[in-house]
Amino acid sequence: MNRKVTVFGAGFVGATTAQRLVEKQLADVTMIDIVEGLPQGKALDMMESACLEGFDAKVTGSNNPADCTNSDIVVITSGVARKPGMSRDDLLKINAGIVSQVCDAIKTNAPNAIVIVVSNPLDVMTYLAGIKTGFAKNKVMGMAGVLDSARFRCFIAMELGVSMRDVDAMVLGGHGDDMVPLVRYATVAGIKVEDLIPQDRLDAMVTRTRTGGIEIVNLLKTGSAYYAPSSSVVEMVRSILHDEKRVLPVAAWCTGQYGVQDMFVGVPAVLGKNGVEKIIELKLTNDELAQLKKSAAHVLENVKKLNL
Ligand code: 2OP
Repeated sequence: MNRKVTVFGAGFVGATTAQRLVEKQLADVTMIDIVEGLPQGKALDMMESACLEGFDAKVTGSNNPADCTNSDIVVITSGVARKPGMSRDDLLKINAGIVSQVCDAIKTNAPNAIVIVVSNPLDVMTYLAGIKTGFAKNKVMGMAGVLDSARFRCFIAMELGVSMRDVDAMVLGGHGDDMVPLVRYATVAGIKVEDLIPQDRLDAMVTRTRTGGIEIVNLLKTGSAYYAPSSSVVEMVRSILHDEKRVLPVAAWCTGQYGVQDMFVGVPAVLGKNGVEKIIELKLTNDELAQLKKSAAHVLENVKKLNL
């Protein structure tokens, strides 16, 4: 492999992301964590599975943030996860300190990398990464829309008993309870879901999508989701490394699109070798637009608390 992805954080999200990346042979992976032995142990364990899983990509573990050097992409999963009863916003102060330190290391050692933020509260941490790295804004983005959309798609497919692969749907806005699942644009093999599912069931699925993260936290009790989050990161990484130009909802820097100015918020974006190459502006109803602006305003409120 000649592409390198560094994953900061060797917890469940970080390690599962690393595993998916090497198993799919997308890049060599360096996993970095402050806990001594943790990234090294998980990396070695993954390497020992390579002959069985049939991959040649290398994964290494390190406690040295400078080992992100020469990365094409850096994924930030560092920070603490929610426990039952907590909102993502409750993680603001503690994760801001951690993400700041990680960003200093990226700025110094991987100045050409594209950065994907996964730590919560997602949109605020992405903003922080944009400021702290000082990188061009197209090279910094947050992973959440792909995950929220995957949850929405899953609930639609389960409701109808159809293949997950035939369901298309998009969730915009911040990665919080006020995210905006776009029912009007959700389809099954090109058919509008509004023609297939009664309104009250659609409303229930919108609510379940908005609370999808806490549903998992409440079940796990000691941590948050990691299978679908890591798959979502990999979808973004693949589109960037292979210059696929996928249209994916990500927390991207908006400069007036959807009426959002100088903020990171979830919008549909074209992801290619230059990171966020374009933001697609969908026609939204006044109500959808108002929901998106409300969600962006919530992100801004939290950004202000960081006094950057
Ligand atoms: C989630 O929604 C952890 O925020 C992440 O599951």
